Amino acid sequence: MANNNPIGVFDSGIGGISIWKEIHQLLPNESSIYLADSINAPYGQKSKQEIIDLCFKNTDLLLNKGCKLIVVACNTATTNAIKQLRATYNIPFIGIEPAIKPAALNSKTKSIGILATKGTLSSELFNNTTELYSENIKIVEQVGVGLVELIEAGYIDSEEMINLLKKYLNPMVKENIDHLVLGCSHYPFLIPIIKKIIPKNISIIDSGKAVAKQVEIILSEQNSLSNNHNILNEFYTNSNTTVIKAILNNKYPVSKQDF
Ligand code: DGL
Repeated sequence: MANNNPIGVFDSGIGGISIWKEIHQLLPNESSIYLADSINAPYGQKSKQEIIDLCFKNTDLLLNKGCKLIVVACNTATTNAIKQLRATYNIPFIGIEPAIKPAALNSKTKSIGILATKGTLSSELFNNTTELYSENIKIVEQVGVGLVELIEAGYIDSEEMINLLKKYLNPMVKENIDHLVLGCSHYPFLIPIIKKIIPKNISIIDSGKAVAKQVEIILSEQNSLSNNHNILNEFYTNSNTTVIKAILNNKYPVSKQDF
């Protein structure tokens, strides 16, 4: 049995494309529909209820487009709304959460850093996970104020970005972290700059590959992998298409739609 319907992926903007890339690499025969809710970015500064409402809106649209599974490619949305999504809709949801567990288990200095949005760091789900792994580990939390806005505006390599990252990362380095967890799907786009700021011995951890693997496991368990070779990867944004096209190297169709 096969299911050739697309996988739906959404984020508050272009960040989830870092996750989509991992899914596409692992499952190249799957069609996909990506929603960048950029007009409402950043989610990280919104209330829990606002985030839940936006997630429902995105899910309804992806379901109307026939998606068979939805990837919530946003840590803020996952940690605040995945429970409500799963309780409401009858399809599988795969979320993304900061990879605190592998970082804590592998830390030799017993100190790890996490860079994420305010919405993620203050969520119940994140705090429950942290509690489980923080017994002998110092967890240095930092809200990445302003980073998502700069990425959405296309200023990834800007002076302003470098200065903000130095301000956030240097104090973590002083706390002797040996793992830096990227707790926001926008941040993998910053890895080349982050590597220039922090020492080489600090491992940078993001959850993209784990999410892609989980998509494969769930689709295969449900006999819902695609057997189609005429795949289509479509991207929709409710804001400007320029930055998203650039991130995708102009290789895929990007449409502007109001949602
Ligand atoms: N990409 C998102 C995340 O993973 C959200 C960023 C935001 O909109 O604040 O948390």
